[in-house]
Amino acid sequence: MAEYKEAPAGASAGVKLMNWIDNRFPATKMWNEQVAEYYAPKNLNFWYFFGSLALLVLVLQIVTGIFLVMNYKPDASLAFASVEYIMRDVPWGWLVRYMHSTGASAFFVVVYLHMYRGMIYGSYQKPRELIWIFGCLIFLCLMAEAFMGYLLPWGQMSYWGAQVIINLFAAIPFVGPDLAILIRGDYVVGDATLNRFFSLHVIAVPLVLLGLVVAHLIALHEVGSNNPDGIEIKAKKDAQGHPLDGIPFHPYYSVHDIMGVAGFLVVFTAVIFFAPELGGYFLEYNNFIPADPLQTPLHISPVWYFTPFYSMLRATTDVMVNVLAIIVALAAVFNLIKGKSTGKAKIAVLVAAAIGIFLLKTFDAKFWGVVVMGGAVVILVFMPWLDRSPVKSIRYRPDGVKYLYAVFVVFFVVQGYLGVQPPSAVGTIIAQIGTIFYFGFFLLMPWWSQLGTFKKVPERVTFKPH
Ligand code: HEM
Repeated sequence: MAEYKEAPAGASAGVKLMNWIDNRFPATKMWNEQVAEYYAPKNLNFWYFFGSLALLVLVLQIVTGIFLVMNYKPDASLAFASVEYIMRDVPWGWLVRYMHSTGASAFFVVVYLHMYRGMIYGSYQKPRELIWIFGCLIFLCLMAEAFMGYLLPWGQMSYWGAQVIINLFAAIPFVGPDLAILIRGDYVVGDATLNRFFSLHVIAVPLVLLGLVVAHLIALHEVGSNNPDGIEIKAKKDAQGHPLDGIPFHPYYSVHDIMGVAGFLVVFTAVIFFAPELGGYFLEYNNFIPADPLQTPLHISPVWYFTPFYSMLRATTDVMVNVLAIIVALAAVFNLIKGKSTGKAKIAVLVAAAIGIFLLKTFDAKFWGVVVMGGAVVILVFMPWLDRSPVKSIRYRPDGVKYLYAVFVVFFVVQGYLGVQPPSAVGTIIAQIGTIFYFGFFLLMPWWSQLGTFKKVPERVTFKPH
């Protein structure tokens, strides 16, 4: 136990109170360690706003969610009407609801940009692998949270979207059909589904999410932030042991982040007050019609933030499975002829490829679609080990890498757009090319990330005071 420290003689009531607390709870110690004396690189740029913005949106979602639950009814015969009641009769209910629905989309905008920042500055590389892995788990939780939240208004899209996505689980061999029933709690989406999704959406997943965010930040503060130059600032310290290129988080970044918050709130409130449905992207028009199990909407699509992955699912047709089988076969033959590994390893690759092709041809395309969709998210976890680049930041990587990342973004956005649209012949081909590009990007990363001429990384961070 730490020794009891007396407050200085003549101290103010505030100082005495703080002293009383500090003798019982490490408030000042924690503040200093995590905020006032936490040294962050001085060159953090625009991209570094999105972490604090993700925190802001998380708090907004929790607070608005608490108020929504006060008037929402998780009952299949009452849910839709209770949301209309919140919109029309509950004082400020419309605002709380629009903040929450817009907040869901804002969360994904912010998190996608936050993740992309991590990708371009190599923030997942050693020693930040765990920050990244916690981030990936957060992303998975966020997807589950949004999916279950979307059922709650019990509109046509809520109902049929859930029906389609839960049915995907039924495509998993052997356990699928039982798993789908377990998720639904019934043979079709119904009151039981609504009740369990409500319970998971308001309590279970948010708790896990909060825990993961805390773990994410603990891991971040253990190793310190990366920066746009990808230089470890801890490598050069002054006589007091502070990084030469570091500045205390508070007041420098606490104030700096307020600018990000202000910019975010301008856009966020503009959407809430002027375009809360955002042309059907944030709130789909079909969701203003109460759920009707007897009438399937003409076109069912998930909300925009799922559509890049949904589009990959739809792209996995029988033809696509054949193409994948050919790619696996070609890769094995290429490894046999050109690979540097030993004879045994080459044979192992050939056997693995043969098993892979057998499985591809044994299970139907719907199942592989689910694997592709899930795999597209799971593959992110492995980025720290797929990337073999000797430098972290894109600033010092070969120019070709910048184009590659640009193409990655273009495909991701195009896939997102295609996923919202009804399927078409041309759209499917583009989505298939996009899917192959997406997986090629990650799976071939160990190879392409070492290619080309790298630029010299400076000794100290580049920083222009403004
Ligand atoms: C609720 C969601 C999230 C919250 C609240 C959150 C919060 C934060 C905060 C406050 C920071 C420090 C400030 C900054 O670097 O921007 C940070 C850093 C980081 N986050 Fe997240 N994050 C979330 C989701 C994610 C996801 C989904 C990923 C990736 C899959 C991720 C990966 C990272 C990485 C790699 C860093 C270190 C960046 C660097 O030092 O360059 N985060 N996060």
